[in-house]
Amino acid sequence: MVQMVTAINRENFNGRTVVTCWTCHRGSNRPAATPALDTVYGTPVIEPADILPQAPQVPSADEIFTKYIEALGGAASLATVTGYAATGKSRAYGEFGSGYPIEIFAKAPNQRATFVHTATGDLARTFDGRAGFVINPLTVVGQMALTATELDGAKLDAELSFPGQIKGTLSNWRVSTPTTLNDREVQVVQGSNAAGLVATFYFDKQTNLLVRMVRYANSVIGRVPTQVDYSDYRDVGGIKMPFHWVFLWLNGQDDFVLSEVRLNVPIEAAKFTPQAAPTRTRAR
Ligand code: HEC
Repeated sequence: MVQMVTAINRENFNGRTVVTCWTCHRGSNRPAATPALDTVYGTPVIEPADILPQAPQVPSADEIFTKYIEALGGAASLATVTGYAATGKSRAYGEFGSGYPIEIFAKAPNQRATFVHTATGDLARTFDGRAGFVINPLTVVGQMALTATELDGAKLDAELSFPGQIKGTLSNWRVSTPTTLNDREVQVVQGSNAAGLVATFYFDKQTNLLVRMVRYANSVIGRVPTQVDYSDYRDVGGIKMPFHWVFLWLNGQDDFVLSEVRLNVPIEAAKFTPQAAPTRTRAR
């Protein structure tokens, strides 16, 4: 199947990632050859293209970023924050009950670690400025080192912990046609890096705050999306931070709710660099 997809793209589309598993499968084992009439007449699911063109008559990316930074408390206030530690709760994978304790650590300019202390061990994502890991006690690998554009994605997440630097996180910024998200009008800004990481940012037109970020990593089977939906922005020491976000990736959905954020506290370097593969009690 991978060979088939690669061949289709090579032979028809100059090797660009145009057809992927999803193009045909749409979540089913055997792709439907005929549309169900329910689909034809039902509520359409809007699926934006991954790569968005620059639209005419829209504000510049710079203007949108400037308003966002203002809405967060201004560049000067944001620059006073060089790190933070936060606690709260997460419902990992949605269905796991009322929530596990979480800890978030961030250190400017680009270190971040998220720990979900589950009953079977820590579910964690770390980036120490260089290396990034996903630690998941429920998988065979346990600790997975991120590579290529997945690693770039972890770096982006870490950099966005300090949003005053948003403009420098990617380049080739384009502003696409405004759209609606959860019934609110949003500005859509997309950027990319040289390696091919692409990320789309959705800013609420009224509050100017970031409400969604979708980043796409490259893989042999096509782009792999990760989406973060931010909400419940609250004031912490003169800046605004999202106290609720939902992290969606192909392996699941984690829901984070913060209860406390402490700015500019010392954080041990080890938090960002897992020392060794954790010893695990594997679920049966
Ligand atoms: C051009 C359309 C198309 C693309 C792209 C495609 N598939 Fe398929 N795939 C099919 C069709 C059609 C079938 C069913 C074949 C049959 O029924 O004999 C199928 C069957 C399968 C099956 C067997 C399912 C079963 O229950 O037997 C798997 C697994 C699968 N595809 C995986 C993939 C993966 C992984 C990718 C991406 C790398 C992919 N496919 C991309 C069309 C596609």
